[in-house]
Amino acid sequence: MFDSRSSFAASPDPDRGIMQRAYRAWAPAYDLICGGLFASSRRRVVALASTAGRRVLEIGVGTGLSLGDYEADMEVTGIDASEAMIARAHRRAQLIASAEIRSLSVMDAENLSFPDGRFDAVVAQFLITLVEKPERVLDEAWRVVRPGGALFLLNHFRSKNPHVAGFETRIAPLLHHVGLRPDFPFDRIEDWAADQTGITSISRIPSGPMGCFSIVRIGKAAG
Ligand SMILES: C[S@@+](CC[C@H](N)C(=O)[O-])C[C@H]1O[C@@H](n2cnc3c(N)ncnc32)[C@H](O)[C@@H]1O
Repeated sequence: MFDSRSSFAASPDPDRGIMQRAYRAWAPAYDLICGGLFASSRRRVVALASTAGRRVLEIGVGTGLSLGDYEADMEVTGIDASEAMIARAHRRAQLIASAEIRSLSVMDAENLSFPDGRFDAVVAQFLITLVEKPERVLDEAWRVVRPGGALFLLNHFRSKNPHVAGFETRIAPLLHHVGLRPDFPFDRIEDWAADQTGITSISRIPSGPMGCFSIVRIGKAAG
């Protein structure tokens, strides 16, 4: 049995300035590199989020690769810290979104300007490992989920296989400057969840090529 709470020390949480620069650089090529490979996992998350209700917030929406996956009766709000990524999300929304896109704005996921309980579902795809304060982002996402709603994460987390985890730990410093972080342990999510009240369930489903991503659903008690 492999133990993810292993002796590997995870890389430090990313620096905000490095992430801003990285995603300004990524923006023009992002869809080409990250579009197809992750598409089926993104669709699964959108389908799951839709079961929580109509009003969805995507934090770290990026270029809006999921916007075309929401059904017409959905109301989607997106935020991202990068102007360059949000500019592309605007273009995509005009071209392909069938859902009602309420707003797409530059905002820090650590400080959401929405009232408590505003959304049926909050979706964070390939974000939580890249923010300066992951627990703060989880707190904020959780705050704006309504009672009875759910928070959905899609991400790669550090492998439970110690050989793979060792490799991920070694390459993490090299990938830091391009805005990637392969060695973020799932324990951080579990530890955060253990400190919350009102979590009804937490599930983790493998997804993507060789199950290397996880879809995480964290349900909020109905009040
Ligand atoms: C790997 S991309 C994922 C984009 C999109 N969710 C997707 O699946 O294609 C990470 C995104 O998170 C954004 N990001 C990083 N830190 C952020 C923060 N503190 N608040 C909001 N967005 C942030 C980046 O600008 C980037 O667009």
